Amino acid sequence: MSMTIDESGLRALKEQARRTWAAGDYDAVAAGIWEVGERIVRRVGVRPDDCVLDVAAGTGNAAIRAAAAGATVTALDLTPELFPAGRRRAQEAGVELQWVEGDAEALPFDDESFDVVISTFGVMFAPRHEVAAGEMARVLRPGGRIGLATWVPDGTIAQLFRTVAAELPPPPPFAQPPLAWGDLAHVTALFAGTGIEPTAERDALPIDPDVAIEEATDFYINAFGPLVMARRTLSEQGRWDQLAARLAAVIERMLREPAEFLAVTGTKR
Ligand SMILES: C[S@@+](CC[C@H](N)C(=O)[O-])C[C@H]1O[C@@H](n2cnc3c(N)ncnc32)[C@H](O)[C@@H]1O
Repeated sequence: MSMTIDESGLRALKEQARRTWAAGDYDAVAAGIWEVGERIVRRVGVRPDDCVLDVAAGTGNAAIRAAAAGATVTALDLTPELFPAGRRRAQEAGVELQWVEGDAEALPFDDESFDVVISTFGVMFAPRHEVAAGEMARVLRPGGRIGLATWVPDGTIAQLFRTVAAELPPPPPFAQPPLAWGDLAHVTALFAGTGIEPTAERDALPIDPDVAIEEATDFYINAFGPLVMARRTLSEQGRWDQLAARLAAVIERMLREPAEFLAVTGTKR
């Protein structure tokens, strides 16, 4: 997609994204998806001699597992506020990796400098999908592999994001919807011409039947950045209670149904 970009709008959107992911307690939320990093690292087949980049690594879900597999790992994220928790988790896992503040749409690395590029629920949040996909492909060497986990558009987590977005001002026109990354046809089109032909399988996280709905709702509202920020904005406008009631219904569904995601892999020719 080619479109003239409003540079200051793009900067403002990234700053907003950074504040959003720094809000609440993302590390606690990441605990709920922690096994996905391991699954993606296994699917990609990370080896000790691999040089791995985790894009939008957060607190290191995939990056730490790649390092545990013996690889040399760089964890890049827009939100350096998440790095102290990531460093703590890395230390607990007994691994070392490099943490780099940066943007998925402008990776600060040379062409063809990684054997593996991974991203679990990360790159999907960069607003310009083709730019971010192009950057991942650029820094990957020929023969290198990608591994992504992205929420599927018909899943419970997608419903959570859609429910919140419906109450907030629309994003600028250049910002593509993150959930499109959960559709293989979209991902295939993004990588067209890069030498990467992705394949995908649906996977799912198990539910925890012991969690109570009130406890879960309270947790997400206070810990999950997008909900923390939505609450701030809508409370000022007296519209929060309305969304809170809708969220409780979505979170109840999240407790009943496994959270499905697309596990995407591919090799660069
Ligand atoms: C849902 S979290 C996923 C984090 C981690 N990969 C995980 O599995 O827990 C989304 C992450 O994307 C990062 N992010 C959003 N936009 C980004 C961008 N343009 N460039 C790099 N990171 C970005 C956020 O800072 C946040 O850490």
